Amino acid sequence: MEIAWQDWAGLLIRWLHLATGIAWIGTSFYFIWLDQSLRRRQQMAPGVDGESWSVHGGGFYHVQKYMVAPEQLPEELHWFKYEAYFTWLSGFALMAVMYYFGAETYLIDTQRADVSVPVAIIASLAFLAGGWLVYDLLCRLPIGRHTAPLALSVFVLIVLIGWGLNQLFSDRAAFLHVGAVIGTIMSANVFFIIIPNQKQVVADLKAGRQPAARLGQQAKQRSLHNNYLPLPVLLLMVGAHYPLLFAGQAAWGWLVIALILLIGGVVRHFFNTWHTGARGSSLLWQWPLAALLGIALVIFLSTRHTAPLTEPVSDERALTLIQMHCVACHAATPSHSGFKSPPAGLTLDTRGSVIRAAEQVMAQAVLSKAMPLGNATGMTDRERAELGGWLRQQLRL
Ligand code: HEC
Repeated sequence: MEIAWQDWAGLLIRWLHLATGIAWIGTSFYFIWLDQSLRRRQQMAPGVDGESWSVHGGGFYHVQKYMVAPEQLPEELHWFKYEAYFTWLSGFALMAVMYYFGAETYLIDTQRADVSVPVAIIASLAFLAGGWLVYDLLCRLPIGRHTAPLALSVFVLIVLIGWGLNQLFSDRAAFLHVGAVIGTIMSANVFFIIIPNQKQVVADLKAGRQPAARLGQQAKQRSLHNNYLPLPVLLLMVGAHYPLLFAGQAAWGWLVIALILLIGGVVRHFFNTWHTGARGSSLLWQWPLAALLGIALVIFLSTRHTAPLTEPVSDERALTLIQMHCVACHAATPSHSGFKSPPAGLTLDTRGSVIRAAEQVMAQAVLSKAMPLGNATGMTDRERAELGGWLRQQLRL
């Protein structure tokens, strides 16, 4: 018996990561909505800044927000922080299992940067830590006091990080890392700023001191960033499984990342505006703009594809290409040392099996260069075009 521990670990940690991520972003979206649904009414209790009614789960909820705090702190006060911490911890563990233990397969693309495994891992860690440090510095600089210039600089920072990652890692690893860098910034915001500041406020109140307004302002600024960032992060994370996103290759990865940031941010802005109760013209532009940017992205990436050949390609040639570039991994018993069973359950060792997977092969090895993984076998553009031409001929039959 042989246990594929890496696969099992990956599956279990991914499950945990999804669950904690849903809990975190779910509570985060809920509190943003709650904040925006607060309305001032006459005769609110002293210290109450707004209130909101909602109906759910067979009853009605009446929530009131105190600014800065109620006169007397309640005995039981709920905090929301472990969702964020465990999302980061599980995400980091998943990255380690996949991209550090499987660095040669998933992280490194020798044609892009021929680095050793330790160097690649140190670079990955440096991007995670460095992204946070520079972001945090930007927020603390004078520019950090102005929302729009700060947002623009954080946007440029992330796009630059994306560009750098794309020069260093495989496409898939680069996109995932951008998601991980942003995710790290978001969790670090919770861990280093939001929660400590709130703790300080509570401690001040308990000691009868007036909490500094700066603590609340700083936490609010970071919360605002955490509000706009999750949608791009989610796409960058699942995007690892959709190689059509990397069709632009390293040269254009930064642009794809920039568009994803914009689209996610604009969609979030729609909901932020809508939930404050605004209607009419203030809601008109977000979805059309997001749709336009999305269409621009799809059209741009489609022009980056390797075009399949139009002249006929023989079965023999096509199957030789598959043999050369795919079968080391995609066989019932792979000869590649990194795999004990065919990855993604996909075997490509017979003509019939390739034709059954024709659409997927087209997407992964012709329209994008996701396969062979890390271009381990050095498949050329010409070979991709040939394989694409042959697949076209088969699909038309
Ligand atoms: C070094 C090993 C390796 C080589 C060589 C390789 N693949 Fe893959 N392939 C993988 C892995 C690993 C996955 C699963 C990726 C993931 O987890 O998303 C995969 C997934 C796929 C999928 C996606 C299946 C799905 O779930 O949709 C297709 C299609 C595919 N490979 C085709 C190819 C083709 C075509 C070639 C040759 C041109 C090739 N692969 C070469 C490792 C390899």
